Amino acid sequence: MKEEDPLASEQGGNALKAVILAGGTGTRLKPLTFWTNKHLLPVGAYPMICYGVAKLREAGIRDIVIVTGRSALGGFADVLGSGRDWGVSLLYRVQEEAGGIAQALGLARPVIEPREKFAVLLGDNLFEESLLPFRERFERQPEGAMVLLKKVEDPRRYGVPVLLPEDGRIARIEEKPEQPPSDFCVTGLYFYDGGVFDVIDKIIPSQRGEMEITDVNNEYARRGTLAYAEVQGWWTDAGTFESLETAGKKLKGFLP
Ligand code: G1P
Repeated sequence: MKEEDPLASEQGGNALKAVILAGGTGTRLKPLTFWTNKHLLPVGAYPMICYGVAKLREAGIRDIVIVTGRSALGGFADVLGSGRDWGVSLLYRVQEEAGGIAQALGLARPVIEPREKFAVLLGDNLFEESLLPFRERFERQPEGAMVLLKKVEDPRRYGVPVLLPEDGRIARIEEKPEQPPSDFCVTGLYFYDGGVFDVIDKIIPSQRGEMEITDVNNEYARRGTLAYAEVQGWWTDAGTFESLETAGKKLKGFLP
């Protein structure tokens, strides 16, 4: 007899799932990341990963896949366990070697149905506002993908979109451009249809040897199916010392 998962049964057959990408080498946070995974570092009173889990839960997402590296896996299990205490149901997938965000995302393939829509969060991205309206918007989108954008002062260390505002679409994204084509950065919250895994299969590693998420998004842009929405509240990543400090200040005293 199949064992009932109390969390899974709460949400019915077609609830949106999410994947949190929490691997990588955390190069820009060395030497802190010599001894731990970036997403386990403290932000306010909690390890960084907790905020992503809580944000997705707030958006009504209860089935979450965490992709991380082999050595960090035990740390995530220590902090989050099965997800029960956070009101979610967690599955873990192990990335044997860091090969880029798109490669990590590819590891979620066995958990997502071929035509299923789902959300992807980079574990070092922290958002103020609820993600529920974005989720609902994407669920109404007939096909393709959607990314969240934020206006930033210096977009050069991010993916930067060229917008087609009259269509609500993105023409293309430039990754870490020296001359940014707009004031927006592409944040680390993405929504995809199940076809994303076939797109990932065709991605060729970039010059730095990584399978880039921007190449995946640009394939959707090329097809004319990359939609966007703009984040109004504060947003920060926490992958550099400066942004980690910003994140700590914003979330000080905040209980996810
Ligand atoms: C990644 C993406 C970039 C995006 C950023 C958001 O960059 O490649 O397009 O703007 O996350 O946090 P990374 O921070 O991994 O260099």
